[in-house]
Amino acid sequence: MPFRDNREYIEALEKAGEVVRVAQEVDWDLEAGAIIRRSYELKLPAPFFQKIKGYPKGFRMFGGPLANFRRLAIAMDMPADSHPGAILDEYHKRAQHPIKPVIVKDGPCKENVRIGDQVDLYELPAPMVHDGDGGRYISTWHFVLTKDMDSDWVNWGMYRQMIHNSRDMGGLFLPTQDIGVMYYRKYEANNIPMPFATAIGPDPISALASCASYGVGRNEADLAGGIRRAPVELIKCETSDILVPAHAEIIIEGEVLPYKRVDEGPFGEYTGYRSSPRMPRPVYRVKAITFRNDPILTVANMGVPLDDADICLSVCGRTDIKTILDNYGFPITGIHLPPECSGHMIVVAVQAKYTNIASHIANAIWGTKLPYPYIVVVDSDVDPYNITEVLHAIVTKCHPVRGIRAQEFAVGHPLLPFLSLEERMWGKGAAVLLDCTWPLDWPKEIAIPRKASFKEIYPKEIQEKVLNNWKNYGYK
Ligand SMILES: Cc1cc2nc3c(=O)[nH]c(=O)nc-3n(C[C@H](O)[C@H](O)[C@H](O)COP(=O)(O)O)c2cc1C
Repeated sequence: MPFRDNREYIEALEKAGEVVRVAQEVDWDLEAGAIIRRSYELKLPAPFFQKIKGYPKGFRMFGGPLANFRRLAIAMDMPADSHPGAILDEYHKRAQHPIKPVIVKDGPCKENVRIGDQVDLYELPAPMVHDGDGGRYISTWHFVLTKDMDSDWVNWGMYRQMIHNSRDMGGLFLPTQDIGVMYYRKYEANNIPMPFATAIGPDPISALASCASYGVGRNEADLAGGIRRAPVELIKCETSDILVPAHAEIIIEGEVLPYKRVDEGPFGEYTGYRSSPRMPRPVYRVKAITFRNDPILTVANMGVPLDDADICLSVCGRTDIKTILDNYGFPITGIHLPPECSGHMIVVAVQAKYTNIASHIANAIWGTKLPYPYIVVVDSDVDPYNITEVLHAIVTKCHPVRGIRAQEFAVGHPLLPFLSLEERMWGKGAAVLLDCTWPLDWPKEIAIPRKASFKEIYPKEIQEKVLNNWKNYGYK
């Protein structure tokens, strides 16, 4: 059964030993953030803070909802110790069968309603996540819903939101993101405020699905339904026609104002660095807040891997890319975005059937809107989920000159740490393909070195003998 909400999910995580309840009062000002961050870096259970300094009893905070593949497996209703490849394949399979949401009349997200002058963003315990952040980030595990001006398309996307004052928030969204397509090219271009809603602490799969580049005109709500294998329940906003998840912890409603910019950021980002400066960015004007009794402000504290962002980018990016490569019919045997690489590296294993197939694959990937600066193409004998095998393939099979194909004029991203400040500001990117396939014009028997692995350098009968006797040798 899919989890109806964040709370059922936390309960399941707790049963699986993935949660620590923190009874001692913690400060929203850096202390909670530091605990969440340390829990990622030591690979410990997710902290569930029961008492936040300066906030009423019952207002809680939960950090690290999807920080590892175990939590992802639980969120997907799969055995907790499933292999990452099995979870990712299952996600991809379910993504092919979207399920439309249903509309409901009542939902717990309406248990408390604040409208107009009653709105105070500081009523909720938004954390100061990292030292040096530009402000308190209320939305780090959430999604922003916006409706297209000319169609029924409703986009869900996880785009950070920082509190400016009791009624305003700021955020970063790029012109290439779907929210940017709607806002910069349509609403703002026509000088019309863009209605938005933010759902904080939704069910885990809806949060995950919001990170997909599902495409212009396609609703992530349908994708979330497919992955959950049950429709998401939506309810109408108080101040607009946008439909929001009825079981989310907190809903923020309002408008993104045209041509208004206020300094936002910096923020400790998914790349593991605070890489983009404080800059004038769009403003979300809040008109209403609704929240559940005893709300749980759910937090992803982005930084060095592994954290929730690494898992989300790995899962959603893989399906986005696999869909494209499968459409081309490439003889792919595996794809992985190692979460250790913050969504920057795609490893593709392929049966290299023709010369320069690696370049062909890289060009197809670079045609998508997200920047994937490192593409590694390996032969099909390499397991893309095994980072040791991938690194070994890079350093033994990628020719340091001929195997490296650099793209100087790629579309950039303001958060990529290796770009200069000027490149980050102007969206000037760079990318590289590491071709780790054996050249097809090398004579197989004499030029291609034999791999010295158990599977490849021993005769079949020796391998079988060793495997059959493995326990007799004293191994488990
Ligand atoms: C935890 C987390 C935070 C994110 N924050 C932002 C952000 O602030 N701005 C942004 O443009 N993308 C952000 N992303 C990436 C987007 O969610 C992702 O690119 C998604 O595909 C956007 O949806 P879209 O294709 O509908 O625009 C974040 C991703 C995660 C996992």
